[in-house]
Amino acid sequence: MRNKIKRNCYCGDLRVEHEGKEVCLAGWVQTRRDLGGLIFVDLRDRSGIVQVVFNPEHKEALKTADKIRSEYVIAVKGKVFRRPEENVNPKIPTGYIEVMGNELEILSAAKTPPFAIEDDVKVDESVRLKYRYLDLRRPQMLRNVIFRSKVNKAIRDFLDANGFLEIETPILTKSTPEGARDYLVPSRLNPGEFYALPQSPQLFKQILMISGMERYYQIARCFRDEDLRADRQPEFTQLDMEMSFIDVEGVITLNEKLIKYVTEKVTGTEIEIPFPRMTFKQAMEKYGSDKPDTRFGMEMVDISHIVSDSNFKVFSQAVKGGGCVKGLNIKKGGETFSRRQIDELAEKAKEFGSKGLAWINITLEGIKSPIAKFFDEKTLAKIIDALQGETGDLIIFVADTNTELVMTSLGSMRIYLAKTLNLIDKRKLNFLWVTEFPLLEYSEDEKRFVAKHHPFTSPMDEDISLLDKEPAKVRAKAYDIILNGTELGGGSIRIHDAALQKKMFETLGFSQERAENNFGFLLRAFEYGTPPHGGIAYGLDRMIMLLLGLESIRDCIAFPKTQNASCLMTEAPGEVDIKQLKELHVQVKI
Ligand code: AMO
Ligand code: AMP
Repeated sequence: MRNKIKRNCYCGDLRVEHEGKEVCLAGWVQTRRDLGGLIFVDLRDRSGIVQVVFNPEHKEALKTADKIRSEYVIAVKGKVFRRPEENVNPKIPTGYIEVMGNELEILSAAKTPPFAIEDDVKVDESVRLKYRYLDLRRPQMLRNVIFRSKVNKAIRDFLDANGFLEIETPILTKSTPEGARDYLVPSRLNPGEFYALPQSPQLFKQILMISGMERYYQIARCFRDEDLRADRQPEFTQLDMEMSFIDVEGVITLNEKLIKYVTEKVTGTEIEIPFPRMTFKQAMEKYGSDKPDTRFGMEMVDISHIVSDSNFKVFSQAVKGGGCVKGLNIKKGGETFSRRQIDELAEKAKEFGSKGLAWINITLEGIKSPIAKFFDEKTLAKIIDALQGETGDLIIFVADTNTELVMTSLGSMRIYLAKTLNLIDKRKLNFLWVTEFPLLEYSEDEKRFVAKHHPFTSPMDEDISLLDKEPAKVRAKAYDIILNGTELGGGSIRIHDAALQKKMFETLGFSQERAENNFGFLLRAFEYGTPPHGGIAYGLDRMIMLLLGLESIRDCIAFPKTQNASCLMTEAPGEVDIKQLKELHVQVKI
């Protein structure tokens, strides 16, 4: 098929001011309606849809129009007319005009697609993923792709203007422990040896600081072989940054400006900076999470000091055993939850790890609570006062000798209740920083301390002396940026001193030999003049998902993978030829 009609404008751009103009259009047939002698075609390209009409005045074109079907690719030459008043469709931008087609070429025929190319299709996601090229034709998906491209452009504009260099780092690299599981690639030229795909460009960006690049960024693909969730992909994209001669304050301030610039550019919503900040400790105590959703209140209140000597053993023993008691006030909850539903809440709390759920319902007729009888009037008043309880409120409590368990289970209840009671204002964009994370956490599996962030994160200066005696208490120069209760990004100021880095490996239980084996190149580089440096990486897919208000990260990735890390369109992963395996010195055992 020769294409004689050369496109000279886009479907979605046509308006009444084009009336009388002859135009050449090209695109996909959204719909075709035959009204006996007249054929109406909705023609779609990336810019939108326009109505094209074929009538008997142009016999050839009308004859060809009779053959076309949905999703055929056609080129049309025609004249723009204002639609008669009664035919105006104000719902689409081109609804005031139509194009009278006088020439038509079919450029490509199409099979009937397995689902309609329109928003809100009722089709299983697996079908959408198998026919991703059709799925991406839907306006919503196209909007997401365009939005993502705009985000990338805004990021590049801002960082370029702020002195950052965009530098690519290798995809075939070395396996490093202490992260998620690696994706491995066998080396043909080095029998028995493997590359790993990068989990992040972490070590390379630190080396780039040692190389004197000062300010680096990359929109980098990362690979982690971990269990997937709605906001996790095995291969995902980071906006990765690193800066020299910078401290926590410097990273945070620059990144607030970046977020403000990018978000305002792509959403038009004004973003106020600086963002709120809280330490890890404060976040856990108030919200029971290191990624608090602050779009609603319902903060946790500690009542340990009030109940430590009470007769209610569940509470007093929790406190005496080194734990705590915390409560949440569900405003007006007494009116919302029936007795049976309160019991269901208690079940939910157990799913979140608590051993039970105590409650006080402040009703018009007085206090209703299975635990009120354990407290004298004064103590009960103090408890209610601490939680600012009023008539109609339902207050819930969790107690345990394990403080962390109290915080996380009540924190999960908080999120669960906000969703159930519809307390979350979906239009809000609540950015916030969580700082002063613990440097280390104890791994029961490995019976040793592991790095909470990664082994290159610097301890806070005032806590370095605790590294030997009380490693669990050491705080890090690490920060996360949270958006609406999701971890958007995280980073840290790095250790830039070879001796401290060695000490860190010791604390993590690395032998000299293992440290040398895994990170020898970094330790060597450190010995040749290392600037203080630090950085951050954002989950770019997540950022786009949240800014667009999407439920799934897959909807902002052109070709995502499923829950079991496969691509339904290409059918990857797949088996390979035995010859390929031989060349790679690999034998498959299943
Ligand atoms: P971290 O491991 O916290 O830090 O990753 C940074 C951000 O990447 C996003 N992310 C993911 N997104 C989608 N799918 C995944 N599987 C996935 N895993 C992580 C998260 C996370 O906040 N090198 C350090 C950064 C630094 O220290 O500068 C790093 O990779 O949004
Ligand atoms: P019991 O005396 O065991 O019947 O418990 C009295 C109330 O305390 C019940 O409502 C239990 O759900 C609640 N409860 C039990 N264990 C805990 C706990 N660890 N934290 C909070 N409430 C609890």
